Amino acid sequence: MATHLVTGGCGFVGRNMVQRLYRNGSNRVLFIDDLSVGTHPDTWLGQPLNSEHKEMRIYGADERLVFIKADLRDVLRELNKDPQYFQKRYGLDVVHFDDIFHFAAIVGGRSKIDGDPMLVAQDLSIDAEMFLYVCRNKPGRLLYPSSSAAYPIDLQTESNTLQLKETDIDFKRMGEPDMTYGWSKLTGEFLAKIAASHYGVHVTCIRPFSGYGEDQDLSYPVPALAARAARKENPFEVWGTGKQGRDFVHIDDVLDLTLLAMDKISDGRAINIGMGRLTSFLELIEVFSGFAGYKPNIKPLLDKPVGVHSRYCDMGWVEANLGWKAKISIEEGMRRVYEAALKKIRRMSRKDAKAQEEPLKVASLIAFPPRRCAFAANNPCLTSSALAPAPSSRVALRSTTRRLLVRCTMRVLRSPSSVGRSSILRSSHASSWTRPAAAVSWKAMISRCSTSPTGTHPAPGRRQRKPSPR
Ligand SMILES: NC(=O)c1ccc[n+]([C@@H]2O[C@H](COP(=O)([O-])OP(=O)(O)OC[C@H]3O[C@@H](n4cnc5c(N)ncnc54)[C@H](O)[C@@H]3O)[C@@H](O)[C@H]2O)c1
Repeated sequence: MATHLVTGGCGFVGRNMVQRLYRNGSNRVLFIDDLSVGTHPDTWLGQPLNSEHKEMRIYGADERLVFIKADLRDVLRELNKDPQYFQKRYGLDVVHFDDIFHFAAIVGGRSKIDGDPMLVAQDLSIDAEMFLYVCRNKPGRLLYPSSSAAYPIDLQTESNTLQLKETDIDFKRMGEPDMTYGWSKLTGEFLAKIAASHYGVHVTCIRPFSGYGEDQDLSYPVPALAARAARKENPFEVWGTGKQGRDFVHIDDVLDLTLLAMDKISDGRAINIGMGRLTSFLELIEVFSGFAGYKPNIKPLLDKPVGVHSRYCDMGWVEANLGWKAKISIEEGMRRVYEAALKKIRRMSRKDAKAQEEPLKVASLIAFPPRRCAFAANNPCLTSSALAPAPSSRVALRSTTRRLLVRCTMRVLRSPSSVGRSSILRSSHASSWTRPAAAVSWKAMISRCSTSPTGTHPAPGRRQRKPSPR
C-alpha cells in the first residue's frame, strides 16, 4: 500500500490534513508527532484503535492510519542510516513515501515566538533533518509550510502596511523576518529551492497567513476570542490596542490550496495562502460578541506581545496562476469557530455539573440512606463525605460498586473547577483514601477512610460515630 507521511500530524494543520487524506484517498497515512503540543489521536481521529506495537498505534478497520509518537528528528536520523527502519522496528512495510506533508514545528503563537525564541529556533534542526532525508530518499512530493512570518517586518508597520506579495521575499535582497520563527521559515524555503534545483525533489512551499479553525488550540487568538465571547467576557481583554490586523483564513481553505499547489508547483516556489483581507482584533471581537448578543467594553492589555502591526497578503499570483480563491468568508468561518466554542463550554459545564452530582448518586447506590445523602449535600465536605463508604457498607461493597466509586472519585478530582474537587482536596484525610484509587487495593483504602456526620475524617483507628439521623 502506498503511504503518505504527515509530520506534526497531531497539531492543528497536521490533524486536519491527516483526516482529509484519509477521507479522500486510499493511501495509508503515517503520522508522526512527539505530542509536545499536539493532541493524542484517540481524542480526535474518530477511528477505532486496531493494534499497537511499541510507539506505534494503528487505527481504523482498514489499518490505513498509523500513528508513531516520536521526535521526528530521531526517526529521520534512523531512516537516513537505514531505509528499512520502519520494517525492522515496527514490522511496517514502508520504505518510500508518496507525499510528505511536513507540519512538525515549534510554533506556539505570539507568546512563544517572542517569549522563547531559542526554543522556536529548534525548527532549524527539524527542517534540516527533513531536507536531508528527502534529498537522500526522494519521496513523491514534499510540502514545506513556510509562513507569513518570513516576510520582512518593515513592510508590516503601522505607517507602512503593504499587501504582501510573494516577490517581497527576495533571497538576493533580504529583509528581516519575524524573529527566529520567521528566520527558520526563510531558511526552510531556501533549502526547499536547493532540494528542488540540486537534488530534483518535487517541493512546494506555502506561506499561510493566520490559519484558524474550530479545533485550534486556545493559545491562538481566534478560538481564544471566540471562547471568551461565548462566556460573555466583559470587559473584554485584548492584547495591545487590538488595532493590529491579520489575514485570517479558514483551515479548510488552507488545505484546499495546499493540495492544489502541490499538483502545480514542484520547484520550491512559495505561494501565499490567505483571504487578501486585513481584519483587526477589535473587528474580530465585534463579530464574536455580535454572535453572543452583547456589546462588551474593551480592555487593552498594553504589556502583552503583539507582533507586527498589520500582516495581510496579495492573492493576485495565486488567483491568476492557480485560479483559486478562498471559499469560506470571515463571517462564516468565525461563526463556525464560535459555535464550536459554545458547544465546548456547554459540554464542560454539563460535565462539571455531572461530576458534582455523581458522588451523591454513587453514595445512594452503596446504601447511604437518603437522609444521609441530603446531609452530605449540605456539608462543606460534600464530596468526600459522600464518596467515603458508610461504615455499615464496608464489607458488603460489591466489586462493581468499588470500581464505580474509584472512577467517580478520579473524575471529580480531574474536574478543573468543581466544588467537589476542592472539597476532596480540602478534606484532611482525602489524599489518604483517594490516592489508593490508582495504586493501593480497595481493602487498604477502606481501612484508612471513615465518615463522620460532620463530614470530616477522624484519624484512622478512631472509633466511628454513627451517621446522624437528621
Ligand atoms: N496554523 C497556521 O495558521 C500556520 C500559519 C503559517 C505556517 N504554519 C506552519 O504550519 C505548520 C503546522 O502548524 P500548526 O499550526 O499545525 O502548529 P502546531 O503547533 O499545532 O503543530 C505542530 C506539531 O508538531 C509537533 N512537533 C513539534 N516538534 C516536533 C518534533 N521534534 N517531532 C515530532 N513532532 C513535533 C507538535 O507536537 C505539534 O503537534 C508549522 O510549520 C507552521 O509553522 C501554520
